[in-house]
Order: sequence, then structure tokens, then C-alpha cells
Amino acid sequence: MEGAVRVPVGLAVARQEEGSAVAHLLSVSVKESERRQGIGRRLLGTLESFLRERGIRTVLVEYLEQAEPSSGAAAYLVDCGYETPKPGILVWSGPVEIIRSYSFIDRVPLPDSFEMAAWTTLTQAERMFIHKGVGDWVPPNFSPFEDEDSIDPERSLVLRHRGEVVGWMLVESFDEQTVLFKTMFVHRRFQRTGRGIALIAQACRRVLNEQRYTHGYFFVEADNQDMARFMNRHLDHPDMIREVLWRTVKKY
Ligand SMILES: CC(C)(COP(=O)(O)OP(=O)(O)OC[C@H]1O[C@@H](n2cnc3c(N)ncnc32)[C@H](O)[C@@H]1OP(=O)(O)O)[C@@H](O)C(=O)NCCC(=O)NCCS
Repeated sequence: MEGAVRVPVGLAVARQEEGSAVAHLLSVSVKESERRQGIGRRLLGTLESFLRERGIRTVLVEYLEQAEPSSGAAAYLVDCGYETPKPGILVWSGPVEIIRSYSFIDRVPLPDSFEMAAWTTLTQAERMFIHKGVGDWVPPNFSPFEDEDSIDPERSLVLRHRGEVVGWMLVESFDEQTVLFKTMFVHRRFQRTGRGIALIAQACRRVLNEQRYTHGYFFVEADNQDMARFMNRHLDHPDMIREVLWRTVKKY
């Protein structure tokens, strides 16, 4: 209609992986008062047509949501032809001070044959050793070199057994106030022996003592059932928020 004012009521954003037929849906959102009228479905459909014209064959989606109850995002994505979203990463977040109330942080002894040290102590030879192990004793998801630029090397830890690298706890500075306890890995040989917990406890103590960060995030891959069980049991606190990074995909 002539003279009518057009007001945006929704947004859908995607990013194409350079040189590939894969795109990531970064955001899709419709103004609350305008929902359930088919706008979201049309918006995503239009974006996907653009993507297809550019050779995209796969759209990946990741979104963070409280574990329960569902906001409808999953139902919406399934309606739009995506696979049923599955939990990818379990996320706990809250004030760093909560950590002080966790009983595990100061009762995790480490036998003398083990040593924990800052990530900055990693030698070139150890680096090569880990590199060679990726895909063998190091599952690719747990490689410390995936996003190495974002690692905080002072607060991240390497675990050695009789001088050989057997694990790590990677910590990132998310922003000025927020620390992220991101990747914890222990060699299969030493899993289920409390070594991972010792790593988390040490990283937690360091962050608590420094008092630099006020807020913390813990990440655990959802298929890491042992660790997820531990976190569910030990991180629970009324001020801790538990969320899930859901993942889904659509292929053309
Ligand atoms: C998800 C969102 C974009 C949907 O937008 P919308 O315009 O309401 O979606 P549509 O009206 O096109 O809904 C299409 C279908 O999706 C499903 N759906 C959408 N919202 C739903 C909800 N809250 N509960 C259950 N099903 C839902 C329904 O099957 C719906 O069809 P129907 O209304 O005929 O039953 C909107 O709710 C939103 O902005 N949410 C916040 C951001 C978000 O969660 N984004 C998705 C994660 S990437």
C-alpha cells in the first residue's frame, strides 16, 4: 500500500563455510507479537532458496536453550524440514563464587606419577606428540589445537604421567568477566580414575583465587556420559543455569 510504513518483524541470518556447500544458520527470530502466523516458516524458506542458489546443500543449526521446557524452537525447525534437534553440548553457567561451595574442588589428590602444569609449559615435542595422536588416542573433538587461539594458556592445564602428556583442561577467556571451562580430556588409560576431576578442580581453584572473573561456563559434550553424570551431580546449585546447545541439520 502506498505510504505504508514497513516495519521489520523478523530476521534470518546464515553464514556459508568458505568454499564449501555447507552453511550455518546463525539466527532466526520473529517478533513475539507476530509469531505463529507462518512468518518464521516463510522467512527460513526464503533464506534457504538463496542458499540453494549459491550451491549450499547442507544447513547446520546450533542453538542454546534451557534443557526444559522447550520454547518451540525444536518443533519449528522440524516443521521447516530439519532433523529432530539433538543435544550437542551441555552447558552450566553461573557466578564463579558458586564454585567455592563445590565439595570436589579441594579433595582430589593426584598420585606422584602425575603432574599438572600450565599449558604454557607444553614443549614443541609434546605438541607434535599430541598432533600425531589426534584421531588415535585423541578424539578429534578433544584436540587442543582446534581453537587454540582462543585458549587462555596461563589458566589452561596439561596433565602428564611419568613425563608423558595424557590430558588437558582448556580454559578460555570468554570476555572480561567470563571464564569458560571448555575442553577436558584424559587418555583412555586413565579415564574413570578421577584424573579429569583433579584437572577441573585445579582450574577452578586457580580461577577462584585470582578473583579476575565473576562468571563461569562449563561445557561438556552431551555424548560424554561419564562426565555429564559427574557434572549433573556436582555442579547443581540454585544459581547455576543448565542449558543445552542443540544441533540439527537439513540436507537438500
Ligand atoms: C522459532 C520462531 C522463529 C518461529 O517463528 P514463527 O513465525 O512463530 O513460526 P511459524 O508461525 O512460521 O511456525 C511454523 C511452525 O513451527 C512450529 N512452531 C513454531 N513455534 C512453535 C511453538 N512455540 N511451539 C510449538 N510449535 C511451534 C509449528 O508447527 C508452526 O506451525 P503451526 O503454527 O501451523 O502449528 C520464533 O518463535 C522465534 O523467534 N523464537 C525465538 C528465537 C528462536 O528460538 N529461534 C529458533 C532457534 S534457531
